[in-house]
Amino acid sequence: METYKELIIKLNNPLKENEKQALSYFASLFRGNGFKIEFNDEMIKIFLREINYYEFKNYIEKVSQEYNANILTDILKKVDSIKSYGISGNKRNYVDYNKERKVKDRKQKEEKRGQYFYARNNTFSTKNNVLPVKYINKIICGDSETILKEIPDNSIDLIFTSPPYNFGLDYDSGQDDKFWKNYFDKLFRIFDECIRVLKYGGRIIINIQPLFSDYIPSHHIISNYFIEKKLIWKGEILWEKNNYNCKYTAWGSWKSPSNPYLKYTWEFLEIFAKGALKKEGKREDIDIEAEEFKQWVIAKWSIAPERDMKKWGHPAMFPEKLVERVLKLFSFKNDVVLDPFNGVGTTTAMAKKLGRKYLGIDISKEYCDIAEKRTKNTAIETKLF
Ligand SMILES: C[S@@+](CC[C@H](N)C(=O)[O-])C[C@H]1O[C@@H](n2cnc3c(N)ncnc32)[C@H](O)[C@@H]1O
Repeated sequence: METYKELIIKLNNPLKENEKQALSYFASLFRGNGFKIEFNDEMIKIFLREINYYEFKNYIEKVSQEYNANILTDILKKVDSIKSYGISGNKRNYVDYNKERKVKDRKQKEEKRGQYFYARNNTFSTKNNVLPVKYINKIICGDSETILKEIPDNSIDLIFTSPPYNFGLDYDSGQDDKFWKNYFDKLFRIFDECIRVLKYGGRIIINIQPLFSDYIPSHHIISNYFIEKKLIWKGEILWEKNNYNCKYTAWGSWKSPSNPYLKYTWEFLEIFAKGALKKEGKREDIDIEAEEFKQWVIAKWSIAPERDMKKWGHPAMFPEKLVERVLKLFSFKNDVVLDPFNGVGTTTAMAKKLGRKYLGIDISKEYCDIAEKRTKNTAIETKLF
């Protein structure tokens, strides 16, 4: 037998004929699937299991207009006033969601198992510091390894970045085996500084794609590094770019198990927290909408790559939508956001737009100049409530 969540709307006056018709017609649109209504002159009973919220809202508006009956708006308000457990497909679930997750004594069990045991006994200070004004809302041109050394410990709320594929080191053909090691050594020196400047409870989010042509699992190597440094692995987002324009055959591997060549249409966002999973922040500084939250916590994001890279003159930019989601889901308004490989400033421009403070560093003067202009020309988003 299907289970439903029951909601009751008590009526002050008996329902009018057009209201009854509107309710019956509205309920019939769902064919008893996921949503049902019963009513008499004293109350309306709503039975909720799962609904596509947008469709639900649309039907409410249409049927209300058609029958000139406002009663359906009360139903929408009632449904809005309760929480759903989550989304599967595009439907909100109100009952029976992920039964297996209802573990008894979850906290104690996690404690006993040693939740994120690898990050225990770290030596991070819990005392956070204020970033000096001279670094707030700035784009700085230079090597992040050097610049970050000037930044105080525990002063940045969120780092979001996409590292370069290489650091312009000479590719000496006699030293191939050293090349990637040099790359990671340099990257990790910069990451060490990032970890140091991150606040306790702050997050560092790295966008990486596996370096497939050289068989370097960079997302694993980088994640292992943060784990070694005792950060908590908060999770991973699969950024589906849907760029299927890659060739499907490679000479010698076509339709043969000898060495099939795997293609990736996605990249990863690896998310780490310093010291604590929970981040401090004020309620009024939350700017993510309920629907955005529900969609975005599902860790597969389909976002097209930036189409205007030529316009900005950078070959490997973030699309703005990706940055918007990261900032709204993982930071509060007024937080300090750092991108140590800021390129033409997608992170800093979006941080400004969304009311965060920002610091962007890039080694290229040309990119910094573009980022500076771009960020300056970006307006702060204001919402009217
Ligand atoms: C993948 S791009 C980042 C693009 C950026 N997300 C955007 O949307 O424009 C990496 C950037 O790292 C910069 N870079 C390389 N080595 C650096 C270093 N040592 N310090 C600072 N920036 C560096 C490059 O100039 C490049 O712009």
